[in-house]
Amino acid sequence: MHDHAILAGKRILLVIAGGIAAYKSLELIRRLRERGASVRAILTKAGAQFVTPLSVQALTEGTVYQDLWSLTDESEMGHIRLSREADLVVVAPATANLLARMAAGMADDLAATALLATDKPVLVAPAMNVRMWLHPATQANMALLAARGVTRVGPNDGDMACGEFGPGRMAEPMEIVDAIAAHFAAQSVPKPLAGKRALVTSGPTHEPIDPVRYIANRSSGKQGHAIAAALAALGAEVTLVAGPTRLPDPPGCAVTHIESAREMLTACMAALPTDIAVFAAAVADWRVKGLSERKLKKDGNAPPALELTENPDILATIAGSGALRPALVVGFAAETGDVVEYARAKRARKGCDWIVANDVSPGTTTFGGDDNAVHLIRADGVEDWPRMGKDAVASRLADTIAAHFGATHFQGKTP
Ligand code: PMT
Repeated sequence: MHDHAILAGKRILLVIAGGIAAYKSLELIRRLRERGASVRAILTKAGAQFVTPLSVQALTEGTVYQDLWSLTDESEMGHIRLSREADLVVVAPATANLLARMAAGMADDLAATALLATDKPVLVAPAMNVRMWLHPATQANMALLAARGVTRVGPNDGDMACGEFGPGRMAEPMEIVDAIAAHFAAQSVPKPLAGKRALVTSGPTHEPIDPVRYIANRSSGKQGHAIAAALAALGAEVTLVAGPTRLPDPPGCAVTHIESAREMLTACMAALPTDIAVFAAAVADWRVKGLSERKLKKDGNAPPALELTENPDILATIAGSGALRPALVVGFAAETGDVVEYARAKRARKGCDWIVANDVSPGTTTFGGDDNAVHLIRADGVEDWPRMGKDAVASRLADTIAAHFGATHFQGKTP
């Protein structure tokens, strides 16, 4: 539970869309106001089928905004002002329909227009039937919104008003209050990397053999994506160049999706100049020479021989890119024995400032798992970090990078 004292004086614009969970939003208004937040409410036409404007008005002690074209609303408060005079916009319940309209950038009622016009952070509390929530369309809309920085609380699993069971129930009012408090707490965290640009690579590469087959590896992208998110959380402007993964794009990052090592190199070069570059991707060292334009077929003879050729080394290329070289270049080293020794040599060979070494021997689950045990190797020594979640590795690395820039700001040198 976060400290709710942080809510005092905060201005919340609450968008209540049409769902049975709208009744919980009345409770949400009360809980927010008890904690000193002020709440302005937009009630959609469908929302007004579930709660009355009068109840919302009584609880907010203010006007309930309903109509984009209402002269009264427009003269008292235009939708632009309404969307800007808030510290946070909360959509609860966020229906499948409203999420779809938000993702499409529509402005067909007051709620959608305010959400399109706002320059403030947006938190959504989805509420809908389980099939609607799990539908690829809703999931794609939510992923798109998340990539644009929209945060989410819930939905929870449970019995639903429609008689089904599963994810789709709106988070409870106190969970939403907690998420709002967490949002403001995170905002008050200092942003030591504000003004810095960072490039991060993540995930595997796929090297095509023919139009349907490829060579890949077991990287999930968890470590690299977590690093991109952690740097963004400290205020860096992050470009993530991601190989094929099953992960959603991390919040607050610009993401370029690529497949092969050569595409990754092109995307990385396009992201320069940056101050920071972290290479966590598991880039294929080789690709197939003489890629077949047609699907290779069994012809009753010996299987086809795949001739391999070396891929460009992205880390080494960028570390050696002269004037374009980021001030801090951090490589990773995936080793299966003598981890620190080999990683030290790799640091020198590839020309990076730091290298994060991890053991990828069979049984470690470093590839694909949720945890990692790494060694941070710098010119002046090695730090052995205990095994921890990949998120924790990422935030410790981001903190170390921030400390480095804090230090170099004054000392003007790389440790
Ligand atoms: O994705 P996860 O499942 O979370 O797993 C995380 C991880 C194990 C993939 C990650 O922690 C990791 O170790 N990434 C680097 C994997 C790797 O390819 O290591 P390497 O020792 O082969 O390469 C050394 C460095 O050179 C790496 O920074 C790599 O990104 C870079 N490289 C390698 C080859 C190449 N052609 N271009 C490169 O830039």
